[in-house]
Amino acid sequence: MYCKKVTLENFRNIESCEIEFCEGTNILIGENAQGKTNLLEAVFYASVGRSFRATATNEMISFGKKSACVSVDYLCDKKEKSDNVTIRLFSDKKKTVQKNHLRVERLSDIVGSFRSVLFCPEHLSLIKDGPLERRNYLDIAISRINRRYIASLQRYGYFLKQRNALIKSAAQDRSAFDATVDLWSEQLAAEAAEISFYRLEFIKRVASIVFDCFADMTGEKERVDIVYRGSASLDEDEYLNKEAVKQKYISLLSSSHEREIFMGSTLWGIHKDDIEIKINGKNARSFASQGQQRSLALALKLAEGEICKEELGDYPVFLFDDVLSELDETRRDYMLLYATGKQVIITTCEASAFKNLRADKKILVVNGSYSEIKE
Ligand SMILES: Nc1ncnc2c1ncn2[C@@H]1O[C@H](COP(=O)(O)OP(=O)(O)O)[C@@H](O)[C@H]1O
Ligand SMILES: [Mg+2]
Repeated sequence: MYCKKVTLENFRNIESCEIEFCEGTNILIGENAQGKTNLLEAVFYASVGRSFRATATNEMISFGKKSACVSVDYLCDKKEKSDNVTIRLFSDKKKTVQKNHLRVERLSDIVGSFRSVLFCPEHLSLIKDGPLERRNYLDIAISRINRRYIASLQRYGYFLKQRNALIKSAAQDRSAFDATVDLWSEQLAAEAAEISFYRLEFIKRVASIVFDCFADMTGEKERVDIVYRGSASLDEDEYLNKEAVKQKYISLLSSSHEREIFMGSTLWGIHKDDIEIKINGKNARSFASQGQQRSLALALKLAEGEICKEELGDYPVFLFDDVLSELDETRRDYMLLYATGKQVIITTCEASAFKNLRADKKILVVNGSYSEIKE
């Protein structure tokens, strides 16, 4: 996949710009707070329909403006003509989404069209923080390659919301709760089984890629194990049996009513899942060094790209925000080697870190403006 051109209007500190990228390595160089990450955020937004740092859509609209526009022209490997995704954001109404200039109703209709994988320093949270980060990683990565997963996840979200509302109303109306709770539990359990199956399948693939990546990066000194820890507390492979998983969730849910009413929410389900990551047998969250954690997070992202390529035939565009300056030399070399033959957009504030790097395009970023550096 090749991101050819990005056109932005009133996106954060970028009033208006049109940037052409080349295939290969593109480097955005600039001092702090100039708009490097903002540009990556826009590209990523066109790809997954969510920002990796804004909590509200409005944050992405330039201060004092009423709307913003992100438009990306991209080319899939086997196609001759490029495609376009355009998203318009408004401060006072719903955003609009277009694929090849035709309106699409839902953002989820374009997820998976223009594919990118982002890595930024905050992704250390994938290893360091709680399970939510790791579930988000799974959801974004699997959604990109599997539309049934997106549909299941949406249904699960709906059933969970309904079931939680029912739990909260149980104090006022216990008989309504008793009459309908099992119905919601069963539907929730069925979707949970479906989602667990896809998550396990995906994690097994990630585990094998990350294992190899670490072996290469560390001369086989570091062994990484990644295991699915589903909320049903089954052994990993048991998650492949959807009917058994569904029955397990039904039984967990039906035996927890009183505790759920006390806690005010659903206590079992894929919204409680986690992934366990170990380096040389020790839990990475508690025991890995900062550098190991960073490399792990990066390896998880590279795995996302590899699986995308296996499933869909071409690599996604890799967006690396401020990454290389934080890696030691061996790991940096590994990364740069990895980047060969793929489209990569990297940001940095130290041009010196790229002295030896053959970049196909260098772009200087100053105060929301972008200009090519010709040497
Ligand atoms: N909604 C917004 N409108 C205008 N400027 C914004 C908005 N959000 C962030 N900014 C500005 O963008 C700049 C940060 O850009 P960023 O891309 O994160 O910098 P960097 O080049 O260091 O990656 C800051 O100066 C910030 O004030
Ligand atoms: Mg930045």
